[in-house]
Formats: sequence, structure tokens, C-alpha cells
Amino acid sequence: MNRFTQYVQELFKWNEEMKHFLELENVRDNLELWEELDQLTELIESTGQSLSDEDMLYLQTKAENIHEQMESYFNRKREAGTIWIAEKTVSPGGHTLPDLPYAYNALEPYISEEIMRLHHDKHHRSYVDGLNKAELNLKKARQNNDYSLIKHWSRELAFHGSGHYLHTIFWQNMIPKGGGTPQGQLKGAIENYFGSFNQFKKQFSEAAKQVEGVGWALLVWAPRARHLEILQSERHMLLTQWDTIPLLVLDVWEHAYYLQYKNNRASYVDNWWNIVNWNDVEMRFDKAAEIKWPAF
Ligand SMILES: [Fe+2]
Repeated sequence: MNRFTQYVQELFKWNEEMKHFLELENVRDNLELWEELDQLTELIESTGQSLSDEDMLYLQTKAENIHEQMESYFNRKREAGTIWIAEKTVSPGGHTLPDLPYAYNALEPYISEEIMRLHHDKHHRSYVDGLNKAELNLKKARQNNDYSLIKHWSRELAFHGSGHYLHTIFWQNMIPKGGGTPQGQLKGAIENYFGSFNQFKKQFSEAAKQVEGVGWALLVWAPRARHLEILQSERHMLLTQWDTIPLLVLDVWEHAYYLQYKNNRASYVDNWWNIVNWNDVEMRFDKAAEIKWPAF
């Protein structure tokens, strides 16, 4: 690969990362910046293997221009904190089922289309419905000042809420042709705490295989201790270590694998590593690590 092709590939990667970042930041109204990023993508995609000096110069100028705009975005953000970014809030009962970020059959052969359809469309949807119902009933309880069923609705809130939030992370935690190992800050944090990536992977896999009954294995960041941890969760919410932020989650409910793997959860867990979206986990980690609380 000559150094021009390499430069263009790196530029393309950077461009995609910026788009992903802006998406996570919920920046939708800066149309100019979006257009610039899209134009650069088109430009890079239309360039062939051999680039003339003029093409290179043009690409470089474009990239520098976008770089400047991104820098000014970061500066404005630093000056104003994050308050000015219009974060979407969900009112009681207003949760919706997120679309899968890929096709139902995209994770085959590791997870079949049939499982993904059932899992996303039926199971996840029922958590969204259950969470909305719990929130609306708690809203009603507040309005009527009648908390006689608070235990029931709180349980429903935890069960369906965790179900909805964890599945939302789970879909993003996977990607077709994923796998490999994480990079960036997350790589160092894993090696620091678990000794090595393989030791982390072994512990995470064992935690998933040995969840009592149904539940999840989770890699979490503990903002107070400022280190990573691996937890097991029975069902959606039991044994959960609150005050932590899930980064990488693995669904080991039977509906996630039984149609394809029968009772062989271990093989599902082992295969699952081939579709992990480390870019997504890194992004979650970078965000979560910004939170700093006093240590006790
Ligand atoms: Fe599930």
C-alpha cells in the first residue's frame, strides 16, 4: 500500500469516526458540518487507486477545513459545558423500540435471523411496553398520591427498564464481522485491571456461562473506584451493582440462543466474541470515564 492510499484510508476512518461521534453527541442541527463530512465520504469513495497530486491537495484542504470546524465545535463545547446540546429526554411512558443497527440476518452464522427477529421484535418490544406501563402507573400513583402498589410497579420498572436498556446496549455491542480486540484507552484499562485481554475474556466468558438461571454478563466501569469490573446479573436486575455503567453486555437468556444452540450456552458465548463491536464499547468507555466522583 503506498502512503497516499494509506493517507486516504486513514482520512476515511477519521471521517467516519467524526460522524459516529456527532451522532452520539446528538448534534443534528449543524447541517453544514454534516454536509462537509458527507461530501468528504463521497469524494474519498469516488477516488480510485491512483491519485493525482491535485486530487491529494484537494482532499487535504477539505480535511483540514473539517478538522478546523470540529476543533471549534470542541472548543465551544468546552466553554459551554454540555448543557447547550439539546439532549433528547423521554417522558413517562414515552420509550420506543430502537431499530436494530443491522439486518436481522447480519449476525449469521453466529446468531440466526430467526432468533434476532424474535429477540428484537417480540422480547425487546415487550420490555419497552412493560417499562412504559410501569412509568405511567407510577405517574398515576404520584398524581393520586396512592402508593399502595409501589412495590409491584417498582419491580416492573426495574425488570422492564433493565430489559429495555440492556437490550439497547446489547444490539450496539455487536456488529457483523466484529471480534478481534479493543484498542485505545479501553485496551490499557483491561490490561491494567485483568492482567491481559485473554484473562478478561476468560473471566467474562465464565461469568456468562455460569449465570445462575437466566441473565446477563456485563463489563462495567465503576466511576467511583475508577476501574473496570465484570458482573453477573440474574434475570435483568438481580445482583446488579448499581452505580456502574454497562459497557459491554451479553444476553444469556434462553431466547437469545436456544433455537440455534439448544442448551449449549457455552458454544453461543464462545461464538459471540466474533461479532463484538469494539468501536462501540470503546466509545461507551470514553464517555463513561468522563464521570468522576469522590473515592470512598
Ligand atoms: Fe434478551
